[in-house]
Amino acid sequence: MSRWSHRHIIDLSNFSLEDYRSVLELANKFKALPQTGARKLPTLQGRLVTTLFFEPSTRTRSSFELAARNLSADVQSFAPTSSSLNKGETPLDTALTYVAMGADILVVRHSSPNVPALLAKSLEKAGAQTKILNGGDGLHSHPSQGLLDLYTLAYHFNSKEPTTNELIGKRIVIVGDILHSRVARSNLWALTACGADVVLCGPPSLLPEAFTKFVDNPPPGQTLDPIGQRGKIFIIRSLKEALHGADAIMTLRLQKERMNQNLLSDLYRYHVDYGVTHESIKWCEKKVPVMHPGPVNRGVEMSGALLEDQSICLVQEQVTNGIPIRMALLYLMASSEINEH
Ligand code: CP
Repeated sequence: MSRWSHRHIIDLSNFSLEDYRSVLELANKFKALPQTGARKLPTLQGRLVTTLFFEPSTRTRSSFELAARNLSADVQSFAPTSSSLNKGETPLDTALTYVAMGADILVVRHSSPNVPALLAKSLEKAGAQTKILNGGDGLHSHPSQGLLDLYTLAYHFNSKEPTTNELIGKRIVIVGDILHSRVARSNLWALTACGADVVLCGPPSLLPEAFTKFVDNPPPGQTLDPIGQRGKIFIIRSLKEALHGADAIMTLRLQKERMNQNLLSDLYRYHVDYGVTHESIKWCEKKVPVMHPGPVNRGVEMSGALLEDQSICLVQEQVTNGIPIRMALLYLMASSEINEH
């Protein structure tokens, strides 16, 4: 396993192939733990992991808390609705409060992009040793979701040895509201890094042409892309054409809470054009898995029947795999020697 060099985990644009490999290798060990009779590891005993979620979550927060407990960490959970945010306290002062209580890792979710990055900078400036793990920020990034999706795909293609190699040359189709999706952005960094080609499919209002160049340059503030050669990104507007030759399909939730204008007036029409169903997956030339990060708008981006068909739909497996992936991230962050931020 390579030496882990990330102090904070904010997004996946600065992950090397070795980083992806380390996460998948560890996650695979943690996934196999129950078979050895072990439910918990003592690795993070005495460490405090705090989930600082300013935006709602079912999967990510619970999964991080379970992952932390599986590594014997103490877990502290912040409830925004009953917190002093309502008295005007800022996210930074809230974070500093938990730092003062001894948090070693803050898992942060916020509806505004870059809040986790800004908190990381501010905590460093304040001399705090606490590390920040992004649990989803606006439409920017959701790194643990991108990694659990990557692992779920690698495991689907080769459950005996689920490595990044399983993605080389694969054609992964992402359908839906790409524009508002931090999951899509994290998946674009992860999948192309591992050598997959990504086909994006959706209406122009939810999928601007510029997305074909999404991974061409590192984001502002990052000088280098650690990946030498990435897979390609294509846009195909017709779902039928996009699914031709697919190896896997990812559907995305329509993020109505992030749409600041009425980009979609007709949900029925959207389902007819972009909804993934047992009928539409026949356009793939073989049986392929269908994924969704959740929560799902049943009957909009995916039919209820397909969601419940576990011979095709990997949604439950994604949730299950979130635990070992988040254990791997907490483990790597807590045990790393820091070379870079
Ligand atoms: N996929 C995801 O982030 O789900 P939650 O919003 O429930 O955490």
